[in-house]
Amino acid sequence: MVRNFSHLPASPVSFNELIRKVEKEKGGVIRFDVAQPYFNPPETAIPATVKALNEGFIHYAPTRGLYELREAVSKFIKEARNLFFNPENEIIIVPGGKFGIFSFFSAVLEPGDQVILLSPYWPTYKSIPLILNGEVVEVPTLPPFKLDEEKIKEAVTCRTKVLVVNTPNNPTGGLLNKEDLKLIVDLAVDHNFYVLSDEIDWPLVYEGKKHYSPLNFEEARERTILIESFSKIFAMTGWRIGYAAGSKELIEAMDVIQQHSVSGPATFVQKACIKVLEDPFPYLRKMVKECSEKRKITLKTLGEIKKLKFQKPYGGFFIYPDISNYGLDSETLTKELILEAQVAVAPGTMFEKEGFRNIRICYALKNQELIEGLKRMKEFFKRKVSEK
Ligand SMILES: Cc1ncc(COP(=O)(O)O)c(C=O)c1O
Repeated sequence: MVRNFSHLPASPVSFNELIRKVEKEKGGVIRFDVAQPYFNPPETAIPATVKALNEGFIHYAPTRGLYELREAVSKFIKEARNLFFNPENEIIIVPGGKFGIFSFFSAVLEPGDQVILLSPYWPTYKSIPLILNGEVVEVPTLPPFKLDEEKIKEAVTCRTKVLVVNTPNNPTGGLLNKEDLKLIVDLAVDHNFYVLSDEIDWPLVYEGKKHYSPLNFEEARERTILIESFSKIFAMTGWRIGYAAGSKELIEAMDVIQQHSVSGPATFVQKACIKVLEDPFPYLRKMVKECSEKRKITLKTLGEIKKLKFQKPYGGFFIYPDISNYGLDSETLTKELILEAQVAVAPGTMFEKEGFRNIRICYALKNQELIEGLKRMKEFFKRKVSEK
């Protein structure tokens, strides 16, 4: 019999259908709901992919990835953030960050083990442990994404196997500070659990704020898996490639999962990533600068919307405002926004139990669309106030 997956977080497919319908009947819907930067990938990415295909990189690669790419990743992490992982045995190349998360959980979770999520969270962190028969404990944070010390301490039990850290956070754009991370690392050491650190948007921090990782604390090194990807920061979502870095033991176990499932990412895709990592920083600086400008525009317009509550986030490309003053739950409001303003956002119910109060706005859109979309949103909220 096919397993029943109705307990997994809801997919936003129903809104996709509504969006398609509105687009057909009325014309374009501006998509603040999709967590995908509109940027083009680095200009070397496509030629390097084509070149690799033409040169015959079309056969299997080692399951944990080409050594040259593991070496390039190791150098990139070291140069960018002064973290060292040995390319021989502490890095694995994965077909997308999402699969890295899947293979990590597959490598460590036993049925009934608990996974702690700081909510709101990206829904995949919940779905994968549930698919693997783990248990998920959701611990609310304070807006935009601040650890609640008491709640997190209460949540840890002897069955806690993993705590998921995602900073900059999707959906809030919030950053965990150094103290928050130290507390998590201390708990992990004292209670002997792993930290899954998804730092997929690590360069995207603003106004002089700094990105911190649990790996900035030496004692986290043996119990933390770092997950990153080419998807967002190099706008290469369709290449399906990322990497994980951690202890030799963890990487070996993830390699077993990879061997017996996907056999690793495509060889020519890996060759393209080696090229991209030859000179990644000018591209990243440009992306951060552009996202920072978009963030400013977004915060300014949202700040002008009466009754919309939010704390300024300092990372990622998300804002997660509280819409409870409008007397509508987030799913109803999302539906009305699509129908009445041709603007799509993601309802908070995708990201947490209590998400009926919030919507997620991804502002990494082209400027023209961003400005038009925000204008439509502002008019929509104004109408909602006058209708009340
Ligand atoms: C927080 C976060 N982590 C990981 C991923 C996975 O990215 P990919 O599998 O494309 O590398 C996503 C994608 O939306 C994400 O938002």
